[in-house]
Amino acid sequence: MKLNIRLFILLFVAGWAVGCSHPSLVVEITELDLSAFAVGWGETKANLSISGTPLSIAGTPYEKGFGTHATGEAHIRLDGRQGTFTALAGVDDNADSHASVVFYVFTNKGTAFNSGVMKKGDAPKPVEVALKGVTDLYLLVDPTSDGNHSDHADWVNAQFTVFSAPVAIKDDHSEERYILTPPPAPQPRVNGAKITGASPAKPFLFTIAATGNRPMTFAAANLPAGLSLNEATGVISGVCSREGKYIVPLTVSNSLGECHDTLEIHIGGGLALTPHIGWNSWYIYATGVTQDIMEQSAQAMYDKGLVNFGYAYVNIDDGWEIKVGSNDLVIGGAVRNPDGTIRTNKNFPDMKAMTDYIHRLGLKAGLYSSPGRSTCGGYAGSFEHEAQDIQSYVDWGFDFLKYDWCSYGQEVPVHDLENMQKPYLLISKLIKEAPRDIILNMCQYGMGDVWKWGKEVGGNSWRTTGDLGASTQELSASMFSIGFFQEQIREYSGPDGWNDPDYLLFGNIYDWANQKAVLSPLSPSEHYTCMTLWSMMSAPLIFSGEITTLDDFTKNILCNAEVIDIDQDKLGKAGYCIQNRDLIEIWKKELHDGNTAIAVFNKRPFGSVVEVDWKALGYDGKFFARDLWRQTDLGDIRKVASFDIPRHGCVMLKVTKR
Ligand code: GLA
Repeated sequence: MKLNIRLFILLFVAGWAVGCSHPSLVVEITELDLSAFAVGWGETKANLSISGTPLSIAGTPYEKGFGTHATGEAHIRLDGRQGTFTALAGVDDNADSHASVVFYVFTNKGTAFNSGVMKKGDAPKPVEVALKGVTDLYLLVDPTSDGNHSDHADWVNAQFTVFSAPVAIKDDHSEERYILTPPPAPQPRVNGAKITGASPAKPFLFTIAATGNRPMTFAAANLPAGLSLNEATGVISGVCSREGKYIVPLTVSNSLGECHDTLEIHIGGGLALTPHIGWNSWYIYATGVTQDIMEQSAQAMYDKGLVNFGYAYVNIDDGWEIKVGSNDLVIGGAVRNPDGTIRTNKNFPDMKAMTDYIHRLGLKAGLYSSPGRSTCGGYAGSFEHEAQDIQSYVDWGFDFLKYDWCSYGQEVPVHDLENMQKPYLLISKLIKEAPRDIILNMCQYGMGDVWKWGKEVGGNSWRTTGDLGASTQELSASMFSIGFFQEQIREYSGPDGWNDPDYLLFGNIYDWANQKAVLSPLSPSEHYTCMTLWSMMSAPLIFSGEITTLDDFTKNILCNAEVIDIDQDKLGKAGYCIQNRDLIEIWKKELHDGNTAIAVFNKRPFGSVVEVDWKALGYDGKFFARDLWRQTDLGDIRKVASFDIPRHGCVMLKVTKR
C-alpha cells in the first residue's frame, strides 16, 4: 500500500512536470510548406524576398524568413497548446516608394497583431503571439487601399516555439453559389433611376423600369411638352425644347395592384444624373464582338428582364472599327472612306440598324473610340477626325461614347495636365454641339488625378484606375484594391460626373491568359461584395460578362431592385468608411430620403462574426434595419447588432429613422 502511494505521488509529480513544461520544439516558418501560402504576385521562397533577393528591411539584412506580396495569406494549423509565434514584419528594401501594407496576425481567438500602415524604410515591427488555445493562425499582408503595387513584404525570423510541429494549410476557398434575394414580387414596383436628364431640343429616351407580372400599364402625369409615353412599354420618348425640372408622377399597374412613384426629368440640367447602368462587350467578347452579338445581348437584356431593374445601356467596346494595317478580309482594309468618315469592319455591317434595334427595346446604344490613331486593341482611333466621328455616331444613333486614351500619348510630347485634358475638351465640345446627347465616359486610367477635372473637361464619368480584370487570375485582389481605393476619391464623384472603377465581372468572362471564356473567378461572397461596394459608392453598374447565358446566381447578383436603388439614389453621394477595424469595414451612404445605407465588409481571409456598436456609429435612438440582399426587415437595430459574414462577404442594410 505504501509503495502504491509512493508510486502515485511519483506519477502525479511526473505528470505535473510534463504539463507545466515549456514547449521546446522550435520550428522556423520556412520549414513549413510555403507553397500552401497565397500570394498576390510572384512565388514565395524560403529566406528570400518575393523578387528573389536576400531579405532586407530598413537596411538590415535577415537570413531567415520569407518574402510575400500583398495580398499575402498564410494559414497555419496548431495544436492549441502552449507556445509562441515570434517574427519581425516589414516592407522589403527591394520594394519601391509605392509600397504600403498592413501586416496582421489573426487567430481563432481574434486579432493578435496589427502593424498599422508600413512603408519601405520603416523599422520592422516585432510580433509575438501566445499560442495557448490557438488552433488556427493567419498571417496576412493587406495591400491597403492604394493597390498592391510593389507591396513586397517580409516576415523575418519567423518561428514557432511549440510542442508539436505546425502545419501550413492550403485553404480551399470554394463556396457554394448562394442566392440571397427572393424573386421579384408579382405586384408592380418601379425600379432604377428616379431622375433623368437630357439637353433641350435633343432626342429623349427613358424606360420606366418596373418588375411585376405583365401585362402592365404605365401612366406618367405632367410630362413636359414634346415627350410622350408608351403606356404598354413604359418608354418615354420625344424631344423637349424647354429647359426645366419636371416632376412626373408615375403609376404602374397590373392585375394585382398599382405602384406610385415620381420621376424627375431635367431638361438642360445634365445627362448622367444617376450612375450609368447597362452592359459592355469588352470582358466577354474582347475584340471579337459583332453586330449580331450586340443585338443578341440587347435582346437578352430585355428578355431576361434586366431592363425591368433599370439596365439601359448596351455598349460596344473596342473592335467595331477596322484594324490598323490589317489585310484581314473581315477586320482589315482602309480604316476610313475617301471622304475621311470612319468605316466599320465587316462584323458591323449596319450600325444604324443595330442602334434602331437597341432603341426599339427601350435601351440606349454606346460605342468606343480613342483620341489616338489607334485604340488599345490596334483598331482605328479618332485622331484628327474627331468632328467626323462624332457626326458618324450621331448619324448612327449612338447615346454613349467611351473615349480611351490608348495611343494618344504618342501624339503629345509631354503628358502634362494640358495635354491630358486636350482630347477630352475637344471631343466634349463636339458632342455638345451635336444634335444628339452622347454620354462621355473618359477612359485614361486615372492619369493626372482625372477625378479632379474630369467633369470640367466634359466627362460624365471617368475610369479611375487601370483595368479591373486585365488578369482574370487576380480579379479578386484587383476588385478589392480598386474597389476600396475609390473611397479616397469619393468627394469627386456625383451627379453628372462619376468615378468609374470599371465593370462588373460576373458570369462568363474572357480569360486572356487562356484565351477562352470562364466563369468569373470571384467567389460568391465576392460577387455580393463587388455589387454592394459599387452601389455604396454610386459607381456605374456596367455588367461586362456574357448576358445571353445569364445563370440564376449572376442574375440574382445583378437584379436586386433594392440594392440598385442604393446605387441609383438621386442624391448621388458616394458612401464612405465609418469604421475600419482589422479588415472589417463599415460603410455608410447618405440617401436622398434622409435615411442611410450601411454595408459591413469582411475583408479577412476567413468568416467572422461582426458586432456592430450602433451607438458608436452615431445611430442613437429608434432606427429600423432592412437587409437589402435578402429583402427582409430586421426590425429595431438594437436587436440586430451581430452579423456572421463569410470570408470576403458583406451585409448591406437600409437604416431608417423611426
Ligand atoms: C483599355 C480599356 C479597356 C478596354 C480596352 C479595349 O484597356 O481600359 O476597358 O476598353 O482598352 O482595347
